[in-house]
Parts: sequence; structure tokens; C-alpha cells
Amino acid sequence: MSLKNLTLTDNETGKSIELPLLEGTLGNPTIDVKGIPGQLGYFTHDPSFGTTASCESRITFIDGDKGILLHRGYPIEQLAEKSNYLETAYLLIHGELPNKEQYDEFSTVIRRHTMINESLKTFFGGFRHDAHPMSMMMGVVGSLAAFYHEGLNMNDEEHLMISAHRLISKLPTIAAACYKHSIGEPIVYPRNDLEYCENLLYMMFSVPCEEYVVSPVAAKALNLLFILHADHEQNASTSTVRLVGSTGANPFACISAGIAALWGPAHGGANEGVLKMLEEIGSVENIPKFIEKAKDKNDPFRLMGFGHRVYKNFDPRATIIREVCYQVLEETGIKDPMFGLAMKLEEIALKDEYFVERKLYPNVDFYSGVIYKALGIPVSMFTVMFALARTSGWVSHWLEMMGDPDGRIGRPRQLYMGALERDYIPLEKR
Ligand code: SDX
Repeated sequence: MSLKNLTLTDNETGKSIELPLLEGTLGNPTIDVKGIPGQLGYFTHDPSFGTTASCESRITFIDGDKGILLHRGYPIEQLAEKSNYLETAYLLIHGELPNKEQYDEFSTVIRRHTMINESLKTFFGGFRHDAHPMSMMMGVVGSLAAFYHEGLNMNDEEHLMISAHRLISKLPTIAAACYKHSIGEPIVYPRNDLEYCENLLYMMFSVPCEEYVVSPVAAKALNLLFILHADHEQNASTSTVRLVGSTGANPFACISAGIAALWGPAHGGANEGVLKMLEEIGSVENIPKFIEKAKDKNDPFRLMGFGHRVYKNFDPRATIIREVCYQVLEETGIKDPMFGLAMKLEEIALKDEYFVERKLYPNVDFYSGVIYKALGIPVSMFTVMFALARTSGWVSHWLEMMGDPDGRIGRPRQLYMGALERDYIPLEKR
């Protein structure tokens, strides 16, 4: 796979070394820098991993300049239009679209693991009613390891796969339970006769005292949103899952760590941040003031849902979600001024030199909240929805990493800027 070599010359010593160039099937070739410390005594410096290929992967490809997103080679636009979330999860895990028999088997397995241990009810009961659902999600998902001692041998492929199935299957049940706890309603058991997204809506919005019929519009919209959020290459939370997994930690701990990383407002927490920002802006007249705040380097305010480390063009997911906003609002008849405000904000920002020059476009989080809100999902649950959908991507990367015969524990180095060696000073002399 080596393309050719790059020659690196140390101008101090005149010593030159050859560095192999590694070429993937798509995207930028990479420089294999492993030989630099041993031959030249230098480390490489890339503090936020903006140019570092942390692994080889076959799951997702992003071309940030062209706004391209492929899952196992399939364009996100085609999956969004033709697939469903469970089929996409199968594709991410196994690398191929399932045939009917494989799909039926996979969806049956997922249905069979939807229940959570009954004793977790007391776990939920221990949280204050106003605990943020992401804090509950993080805690409960990590605690799942307490119930599967017999299935956590990380050298057993069957244990790896059943753990992946358990996570994809139980996340909706846990997400719904977080919501029910936060509104003081009883936790609703899953129903195995319902499809994946229907079941989530049923567990979130049904109550024991009356019939609840899942809205097909809502189930279809959730399926689409979950496909769009399923995976995204080596983003911060997926890289976290890989790093935690590289230590041999159990999959529930890995996914709980991924949930923690996703919660940040610079990452998956942005969808909640967008709605709060739109509510703070309030009206079109206030947009210029907030655009100026976002441009002011002395102001920590950032335009939530805008910008991306990789996309320097439209995030293809945002383009699809904006279209779905229209459809959902049209089909539900909901008039949400936030949608109009978001589109006006996008229009004004994309004409502003600051955003144009820096190639800052709406990302996946910019419009998703408008849809979640139209489906009756509260703002505090937006990032929980993102975490639920991203679980299929996280477990796919975790399985890929665990299956790497050359896998080693992740251990970055540093550029040390601290004190030189010095002797201890007794307290009385300080
Ligand atoms: C997700 O990595 C993934 O794939 C993530 C994700 C996924 O699916 O996993 O796509 C999901 O996390 C999407 C991003 C959600 N976050 C937000 O919407 C929060 C608002 N966005 C910013 O915080 C920011 O854009 C980041 C965090 C997304 C990216 O940060 P970077 O890579 O540091 O931004 P950059 O290097 O592109 O910034 C270039 C310039 C800087 O200004 P200068 O130093 O050049 O003057 O643009 C500025 C930044 O300050 N900038 C913004 C901005 N985003 C970048 N200025 C105002 N508002 C913003 N939103």
C-alpha cells in the first residue's frame, strides 16, 4: 500500500530519512511518521489531531471540501432516501448491505435485547428529576457492564458482537427511561412488535392509562435523522471510544465515554445549543447583533450549528435535514418560528465575509433540533437522540479496532514545556 517515500532532512545534522507515504482507497495519502523518533529523535506535533490519521478504517469516508459523506462507499444521500436506521447500522458493522434474511435476523436480534435489567429502575430513581438526561445516559450505559459479567471476554468474538447488539438495542430503552424519569412518568417497557424508531417513540410518549398510536411521520423523520447521525469517521466521540477500547475496557465503558465526549457543546451538545441560541436571538431583528458576537474574538459566543473541523463546504447532512424540516412541519401542520429564524440566520451568515472567508457552513446540528422539537422531543433530549443514533457508528469503530491484529493501546506523546529538573524545597524554606 506504500505509495512512495518522502525524504525528511534534518538541516542541523544534514541527516536524511525516508518516510513511507501510505495511500488509502480515497482521500489524502498519509506520511508514516513512526520512524522519526528513532532515526531523528523528533516527535510530531498536532495538538488537536487536525492532520493526524489515528487509524486505518473502512467504515466512513468524508471529503470536507466537496461535502461528501460515504458509509462503506454508499453516499449518505442514497442511504437517507432508501435505507432505514437498522439497515444502516448493519452496513456500518458488517460492511455490506444485508439481504432480506440477514436483515430479518439482525432486526430480530435487536428486538430481543430491548429490555434492561429491572434493577436499573432504582438506578434511575436515584437521579434528581431535573438531572440532565445525558448525565443519566452516561451513568446507566456504563453500568450495563454490571449485568453482563459472563459476556465481557474481549478476546471472544461472540462476546464482542452480542455486546454491540445489546448496545444498539438498549440505547432507545435507556433514552426513553431518561426522559420518563425527567418528567416523573413511569418507565415504559419496549414492545417487540414495533420497529426500532416506533418503539422509541412509544417508550417516550405512551402512558399506562391510555392507548398510544405512534405517528408514522414521526417514526419516518426519526429514522432519517438517525441515519444521518449514525457515523462520521474519527470525530471526537468516536476517537474517544477507540482510545478507551484500545485499553481493553469493556464496550459499555467505551460507549459511556463516547457519550461523555459527545455531550460537549462543540460536538453533539451543539444541537441543544442551537435551539437555546435561537431562543436567545428571538427575532430576525436581533440576528446582526449575534452575528457580530460570533465574530468577536473577545466573546466566547460561537454560532452554534455552524462550522466544522472537516467540512469546509455544506455538511451534506445539514442540507438533507433542512429539507426534512419543511416536510415535517408541513405534515404536522406545526408552525415553528424557530425554523424561519434558523433559515434567516443561515442566509445572513453565509453572506458575511467572516463566515465565507473561514468556510463556516451549517453542520448536522443546525436544523436537527427544529425537527426534534416538532416531534415533541424536549431540548434536553436532543443530544441523547444524537448519542442513540451514533451508537451504531461507535460500536462499528469499536469492533473494527478490536478486530485489528496489530492493534495497540493508544498513547500520544507531548511537547514538554514545564520546569527543568530541580530539588525539593522543605516547607520551612519556601
Ligand atoms: C459535530 O467532527 C465531527 O465529525 C463532528 C460531527 C459528527 O457528526 O460527529 O460532525 C458533529 O460535532 C458538528 C459540530 C457541532 N458544533 C457546533 O456547531 C459548535 C459551533 N462550531 C464551532 O465551535 C467550531 O466550528 C467547531 C468546534 C465545530 C470546529 O472547531 P475548529 O475546527 O476549531 O474550527 P475552525 O478551525 O474551522 O475555525 C476556523 C475559524 C476560527 O477563527 P480564526 O481563528 O480563524 O479567526 O472559524 C472560527 C474559529 O474561531 N469559527 C467560528 C465558528 N466555528 C469556527 N466562529 C464563530 N462561530 C462558529 N460556529
